[in-house]
Amino acid sequence: MSDTVENDVEQTLIAAANAASQGNDDIQYLSKGSSKDEETESSEVSNDCPIKKRKLTDDATYSQEGNSHYNDENPIRKRKSSDTTYSEVVATHYNLIKEKGLDERSKSSVVYLRNFHNWIKSMLINEYLTKVKDKKKHNAPIRVHDMCCGKGGDLQKWKMGGITHLICSDIASVSLDDCKSRYNNIKSRIWGRGSSNMFTIEYIVGDCTRMRVREKLSDPSMKLDIVSCQFAFHYCFESLPQAECMLRNAAECLLPGGYFIGTMTDAYDLIARARKCNSNTYGNRLYTVTLDFDINKPALFGEKCHFQLADLVDCPEFLVHFPTFIKLAKKYGLKFVKKEKFYDFFERLKSEGQQLLCNLPALETYPPSGTSSLLSTDPDDYTHAKEFIERQGEDNIRIGTLSKSEWEASSIYTTFVFEKVKNTWNTDGTPIFDI
Ligand SMILES: C[S@@+](CC[C@H](N)C(=O)[O-])C[C@H]1O[C@@H](n2cnc3c(N)ncnc32)[C@H](O)[C@@H]1O
Repeated sequence: MSDTVENDVEQTLIAAANAASQGNDDIQYLSKGSSKDEETESSEVSNDCPIKKRKLTDDATYSQEGNSHYNDENPIRKRKSSDTTYSEVVATHYNLIKEKGLDERSKSSVVYLRNFHNWIKSMLINEYLTKVKDKKKHNAPIRVHDMCCGKGGDLQKWKMGGITHLICSDIASVSLDDCKSRYNNIKSRIWGRGSSNMFTIEYIVGDCTRMRVREKLSDPSMKLDIVSCQFAFHYCFESLPQAECMLRNAAECLLPGGYFIGTMTDAYDLIARARKCNSNTYGNRLYTVTLDFDINKPALFGEKCHFQLADLVDCPEFLVHFPTFIKLAKKYGLKFVKKEKFYDFFERLKSEGQQLLCNLPALETYPPSGTSSLLSTDPDDYTHAKEFIERQGEDNIRIGTLSKSEWEASSIYTTFVFEKVKNTWNTDGTPIFDI
């Protein structure tokens, strides 16, 4: 990439984002604050989530409401009739995805989007590993749980972050096998260079929404600095017990001051887009979302979305009502730190992460140089880039961008961060968290 490309990367992505979200201002929202409880509940998040707010007084109240989709009288919320659980469907889907080499991945229709998501994960992981290191003595061990790690796409990131030990868990055993091979390859390459500086690893196959991970650890008393759940937390909002189990797994081994970080689809965005086009199904040439529930009356749990994204994802996931996520996390000592849409995250870290954006590369060069061609053949995908260049009034400049279609898909996602807090103890032995 030339200097010009590097310098103009930010502005064009902004242009792509604006082009992708044009006209979103006319979204209808449910009226705010019809009761005191609703106001209190929603005040913790910056976005006014259009999901109907419910009174959350105790577990029983929302347990009942959240599981109302099991009521077969409501056709929109009918549970599958077969004995297969959604977790099994998800595991089968991921198990069937073949591990692709770098060469094949670079030919994907979403190569820049995939790289852009890797940039987001790298920056997020790096940001919180740095905070953890700042709180520790030099050379103190750093232990991490990569929850729902898939094929180990983040192993290099953990390697670069200089961690000591990694726990990799996933429901898809084939993905974990690929993860093992990836780890062994990285390790042998490092040893080949005469270094032994590689973190140790352990693998856990299982459903993180139903098993207690701690009981499966090589050392169940192990204390962790970071739990990372990338592009997977939304699977646990199938039901309250599953969300609680996942959060307990995220929280219970974390040291006070440690972080639970992740990325997932943003419920606000999923619903707002459906309302805008007045349809439960929408998307573009790269992604399709189908919301399998009444978008005006979603429940807190079990609201199924089918998300299909090029060759990356094609399986059922669940809407995460963020105020409920925050409320449940509190119960396990996780204090909400922040939620940032991918666009805002990019805005904040684009300068710091510019070199990595270019190295991956996470953005496409427009216009293409030499004999190379654009990834998309739809000219509308690059209108924002063309207009940006015209506005500069200079000839022969090249910029880095995402196509409009890629940005439309990517901007559905959000990052999240929680911090584990210290606790005192109740007389009955239960922890009290001051959150
Ligand atoms: C979109 S992939 C993300 C993989 C990896 N975190 C990454 O960023 O590359 C989602 C992963 O979550 C895993 N997963 C889904 N539901 C799960 C569950 N209930 N327990 C454990 N893993 C689960 C899937 O098998 C899949 O590997």
